[in-house]
Amino acid sequence: MYVKKIKLINFRNYMNLDMELNKTLNIFVGDNAQGKTNLLESIYICSNGKSYRTSKDRELINLSKTKAYIGLEVEKEQFTKYIEIKFDKEAKKRIRVNKVELERNSELTGILNIVIFSPEDLRLVKEGPSERRNFLDGEISQIKPKYKYNLARYNKILLQRNNLLKGRSYESCQNLFDVWDTQLSQAGADIIIERIKFIDKLAMISKDIHNKLTGGIEELKLIYLPSFSVDILEKQELQLRLKNILKNNIEQDIQKGSTEFGPHRDDLDIIINGVSARTFGSQGQQRTAALSLKLAEVELIKHEVGEYPVLLLDDVFSELDINRRKYLISTFKEIQTIITSTDDIDLVELNGVEKKVFFIRQGKVIIEGAV
Ligand SMILES: Nc1ncnc2c1ncn2[C@@H]1O[C@H](COP(=O)(O)OP(=O)(O)O)[C@@H](O)[C@H]1O
Ligand SMILES: [Mg+2]
Repeated sequence: MYVKKIKLINFRNYMNLDMELNKTLNIFVGDNAQGKTNLLESIYICSNGKSYRTSKDRELINLSKTKAYIGLEVEKEQFTKYIEIKFDKEAKKRIRVNKVELERNSELTGILNIVIFSPEDLRLVKEGPSERRNFLDGEISQIKPKYKYNLARYNKILLQRNNLLKGRSYESCQNLFDVWDTQLSQAGADIIIERIKFIDKLAMISKDIHNKLTGGIEELKLIYLPSFSVDILEKQELQLRLKNILKNNIEQDIQKGSTEFGPHRDDLDIIINGVSARTFGSQGQQRTAALSLKLAEVELIKHEVGEYPVLLLDDVFSELDINRRKYLISTFKEIQTIITSTDDIDLVELNGVEKKVFFIRQGKVIIEGAV
């Protein structure tokens, strides 16, 4: 799939943009604070209805305006999809696909698949478990809408359970706990099973990619770290196990006022040559590991969805060394890739790759060169 056209009205610093993208490689060059990331953000929002930079939709509307619009024409193998999102300071956003308004924003899932890699993605390797859980959740949701639904359900029940834990005794609300724990373990078991399946596939693909990116020097391994022993993949059994753990741990949970076991406490260990990259990896190793995971996700989406996603590389291409760039360049023929950079990109390296180069200044795409 690829994004053919973008139209932005009053979106961040774009007052009015209407442009066509190249089917393969697109390069946007511009100084800092000109609108490069804003442009990628607008594309990203059309993949799941939300920004990755802010949870407040009103920030997306130009400061001097009250409404904003994103329109994307997405070409898929079988059909064309027009995704339109209207933001209003005073009202909820509205999403339309091929002129039909969605009843729920979650219906947008799967129409446009995006993988984005930006400097912040280093956090994926470096920071605490919640970064990695967010990564897992975001990526699995793209290919499994049901996962997104289960996760929302799980989080809602967890919140209710945690509220109940605060300042109560087990005896006084035993029945209520029993109800929450049954529901929590049902949704929780589904989440764990999907995460295990996803990590297994991702581990296989990313190992191969990481090997190529590092010229065979580094071996990447992914290990799922659940909050309790998960050696069974049978749903009913796993659910029962989680329910028992919740029940057996209730006194400690009440003391702490929070739920200690369950997928909301999962982590993923990212291991390079036998040691954890989070603790022992250099900055460069961490960046490469994050890139391997993202590129593995690209392949996984192709495998699961049948089409390559659109790859967004925000300010990272020129930071990579020549081997990593070469590997990426080899993928450009098949995958629509949108690169941003503050410096001119060495176009000689990209000889033989069909591409378009654009320049961005103050929310305007000013020059366009097909090379
Ligand atoms: N809601 C908004 N209204 C107007 N301008 C905005 C809004 N949100 C961000 N900007 C402007 O967008 C610019 C940053 O754009 P960004 O795409 O992050 O830059 P970069 O080219 O460095 O990636 C800043 O000048 C910022 O003031
Ligand atoms: Mg930027």
